[in-house]
Amino acid sequence: MAQQGIHGVWANRWTFVLAATGSAVGLGNIWKFPYITGENGGGAFVLVYLLCIALIGIPIMVAEVLLGRRGRQSPINSMRYVAKEAGLSSNWSAVGWMGVLAGLFILSFYSVVAGWALHYVFQTGMGAFEGATREVSQGVFGELLSNNTALISWHTVFILMTVGVVMAGVTRGLAMVARVLMPLLFVMLIMLLGYGMAAGDFVGAAKFMFSFKVSALSWDGVLIAMGHAFFTLSLGMGSIMAYGAYMPSHSNIGQTVVTVGVLDTLVALVAGMCIFPIVFASGIEPSSGPGLLFQSLPVAFGNMPGGLFFGTLFFILVSIAAWSSAVSLIEPGVAWLIETGKFNRVTANLVLGGASWLVGISCALSFNLLADFKPLFLANRTPFDFLDFLTAQVMLPLGGLFIAIFVGWRMAKAVMEDEMDAEGHPMLDIWLFVLRYISPVLVVIVFVITLMNTFAG
Ligand code: PHE
Repeated sequence: MAQQGIHGVWANRWTFVLAATGSAVGLGNIWKFPYITGENGGGAFVLVYLLCIALIGIPIMVAEVLLGRRGRQSPINSMRYVAKEAGLSSNWSAVGWMGVLAGLFILSFYSVVAGWALHYVFQTGMGAFEGATREVSQGVFGELLSNNTALISWHTVFILMTVGVVMAGVTRGLAMVARVLMPLLFVMLIMLLGYGMAAGDFVGAAKFMFSFKVSALSWDGVLIAMGHAFFTLSLGMGSIMAYGAYMPSHSNIGQTVVTVGVLDTLVALVAGMCIFPIVFASGIEPSSGPGLLFQSLPVAFGNMPGGLFFGTLFFILVSIAAWSSAVSLIEPGVAWLIETGKFNRVTANLVLGGASWLVGISCALSFNLLADFKPLFLANRTPFDFLDFLTAQVMLPLGGLFIAIFVGWRMAKAVMEDEMDAEGHPMLDIWLFVLRYISPVLVVIVFVITLMNTFAG
């Protein structure tokens, strides 16, 4: 085995589950999933997303944890180690490089949205949504988007919160956040679900999310669903590989990963079923884009008993969910910088946090000053939309594809069995089959078809 414990090791398997769930459950589930479901017509999109989680996400997540635990270092050096062990070129470390870059790109727009959530903690707490209608909540959101000082300040605050935790180190920093607050978030979502059932258009929402009209879904939508499976499970960029590197040697990887995957999916579905009843009852467009969460839920909070309290608490929890994800976006790069011997945890965080902060400014301004800045080199998108597209729909699936190919086709089965403690276990063969013949093939098919459509259209 590779050298162990330069960065620390989780106390036990449950700490890994908590940390990985903390990474997986975030804005992807509560903010992004509902709005992309809304933009892509509902049910059929949800179905494709669920299939991608099961056939691509979970198998690749197992592979990623496996690679991390075998390599025991940052994704860049873990990939180098496992490639060497398999007698292959050290160029496989490029998977780690692309991941580190993807993590920084994601953090730069992620922290802008997390900043919105922080702003909403105070807005809700100060009663901005008392008795709110759709117009009021849309007004408050619009005001935020036109306020550069607020946008950039909250973005800065969130980046500082993130590097603060990562500076404190793996065991002391990252593991702590998830423990109490994730369960609390889940309880809050269930409560909102109750409100949606009682006061919103629950039936309309259920129909929208679970009855699939295939006609509503385009190939672009399929790529978005697949990309989102990677995004929501934190796959394809090394977060989970880095966390796997800190996993104790003999904990069962398969079970652990399934637990994380199921929890993540549940949070997304429940979040959708909280938001859409309010969307439909208040006449908000399901396709209103990134603002959906921020325009719909305040209407509920503004009109329910105790809404001031619950609304404030809700946005606190969303901020925390974002926080425990953001730390995993930067950890792979930080671990690598430390391994070079030229940085410590503090300086590594300053460098990478600073880079994401800088790029993030362009994302913060994508909703006002740069709203019409959609140059060809950003694929006709604003900086915010471009970085979202580039990471979720290109870099993460590509990273996942290479991980599937490496583990499925290049890694010695003996190494796998040793690492998984699963010699001759039938699940191992089923997993390996899916990882070889199904996950990578599906990723390639979706890529090729969307590319063809882009150039044909
Ligand atoms: N999974 C996180 C979410 O759903 C985002 C994330 C992506 C975190 C990639 C780490 C790596 O919000």
